[in-house]
Amino acid sequence: MCGIVGYIGDQKAKPILLAGLKRLEYRGYDSAGVAFIKNGDFQIERTQGKLSCLVDKLAGKDFEATIGIGHTRWATHGRPDEINAHPHYSKDVVLVHNGIIENYKKLKDDLIIKGHQIESETDTEIICHLIQDFLNQGYDFQKAIRSALKELHGAYSLVILNRNDNQRIYCARKGSPLVLGFNNGENFVASDIPALLSHTNEVAFLHDFEMAVLEKTQVTFYDFEGNSIEKERQIIQWNMAQAEKSGYKHFMLKEIHEQPRVIADTLLGRVDLEKMNIWLDDAGRLMKKFVQKPDFHIHVVACGTSWHAGMVARYWIENLAKVPVSVELSSEFRYRQPLVGENTLVVAISQSGETADTLAAIRESKKMGAKVLSICNVIESSIPRESDVTIYTHAGPEIGVASTKAFTTQITVLYMMAVKLALQKKLLDDQDIQDRMKALVELPNILKTFLRQYKGLDMMTEYLRNKEHCYFIGRGIQYPIILEGALKLKEISYIHADGYAGGEMKHGPIALMEDGVPVVATLLKDDLYDKMVSNVQEIKSRGAFIMGIITQGDEDTKQLCDLYLEVPEASMDLLPFVSVLPLQLLAYYVADAKGTDIDQPRNLAKSVTVE
Ligand code: F6R
Repeated sequence: MCGIVGYIGDQKAKPILLAGLKRLEYRGYDSAGVAFIKNGDFQIERTQGKLSCLVDKLAGKDFEATIGIGHTRWATHGRPDEINAHPHYSKDVVLVHNGIIENYKKLKDDLIIKGHQIESETDTEIICHLIQDFLNQGYDFQKAIRSALKELHGAYSLVILNRNDNQRIYCARKGSPLVLGFNNGENFVASDIPALLSHTNEVAFLHDFEMAVLEKTQVTFYDFEGNSIEKERQIIQWNMAQAEKSGYKHFMLKEIHEQPRVIADTLLGRVDLEKMNIWLDDAGRLMKKFVQKPDFHIHVVACGTSWHAGMVARYWIENLAKVPVSVELSSEFRYRQPLVGENTLVVAISQSGETADTLAAIRESKKMGAKVLSICNVIESSIPRESDVTIYTHAGPEIGVASTKAFTTQITVLYMMAVKLALQKKLLDDQDIQDRMKALVELPNILKTFLRQYKGLDMMTEYLRNKEHCYFIGRGIQYPIILEGALKLKEISYIHADGYAGGEMKHGPIALMEDGVPVVATLLKDDLYDKMVSNVQEIKSRGAFIMGIITQGDEDTKQLCDLYLEVPEASMDLLPFVSVLPLQLLAYYVADAKGTDIDQPRNLAKSVTVE
């Protein structure tokens, strides 16, 4: 989720790179840097903090180079400080990287044995030394890159300079975006279109396992075997505001559509299909200590959407790992005398890492002797700093105030934790482990297909847009999901929305059912399906208008619903992922139809740092 820019041409590279990086800054970053080649040497400048810190550092320094690369970092490996900032370099190689190298620890150990000196904590620096290692063996630059790529597991986009050649920029892509921009006598590369748009709208997208070599007057494309390939150029019609949202109308919609990719990023390097294991580093080691304790239990603290993620996790962890889990709002936890202690693993969930109530709950828990494992999206934010261990979601910057991709990456981590605990307790047989891991790895594709093909939201949107109230019902693991659906709808459309467990309707809320009352119901083919059908029949007979989220091809359930939206089949445990996406989309389209300020809804802030 980093920002990348590269330039080669006749103009000075510095202002072009800084302007390009500025165009990517709307996502928010933690460090930045640039590299140029001059007289056969690299000039590299890096800083911690926002891009303005780099701009200040470069002010007054005149770089003559007309070739250069730049980077803004959203940290995944290593603290957001200067030494970990990109570009990274070895003797002859300087490069910027977006993505995650899964096997970097092993590569690092091998390179250190060979005498390479590695300065940073990043996975990126390893790539420079790996390429250098092949150069040292006499390979030409392009072959050295290709040979290094063969050793990398994970996702990356790379933009690379050779100290001994100021005529070329090398690029490679597997899993992270790169786009090339063409102009007369100059060429560009970037992670995102906004960085190019003020220079050109003629672009070509690099696909996985493709490389490009940029010169001033031409760009050539290759596959990873070194065979040259043809690339089609496209003309982009977006203005700058559209480009920042990758053509989507709002950041929220862009972020909904990013979910397959960021879930895949969050799984990367953690789900090991070969060894049939889940790797959670320090968190995994801490969990292992806890499973040995006789009265081990988990207490989740979180707010809002993150609290819903914790509620989903309770079903998984209790069911798979047989560890008791309680889930509490941080704001409640901090003002009672909760019974947590040394047998308690407190799991704090927070996208921003700055939520004041969750931070206070962490401090209280530690005072009482508990250990804290946090799940967080923003590296080096306050919550990870105060936790014993942290598992980062790799959602990248979430700009829409209503949380979407943060939620699904949180539950991705939580599901991995549930499976890991079950493995540590030896509760799963080989087949079960294999099935669960495979299902997880296939999940991003299932979600991607859904996002390409879903139908039926327009009629639901039309029905809801002028309503004042809406109810959501679901059971079992779908209960927290419908709470999340109701929260999304109220946050951005300002329609009053409440979520109820299906079985609870007759204990009160059924009194609200009358002709035409909109009810969104998750009616998926899980083990509570028959119960949900009865609950829906009860309210339908009182006049409720049923909008069902149903399993694809389930003809009987279609008859029960006034409107329905089909979601793909997935393994039972992973159904929360497939049912939450349509609820996010429903909230989005209803809010859009009402014309509300979707990315910045009234009275809400992205990070709640006050009580
Ligand atoms: C809802 C939403 C909020 C946050 C809550 C916690 O869409 O975004 O409910 O989930 O404020 O924030 P974090 O996860 O940053 O602690």
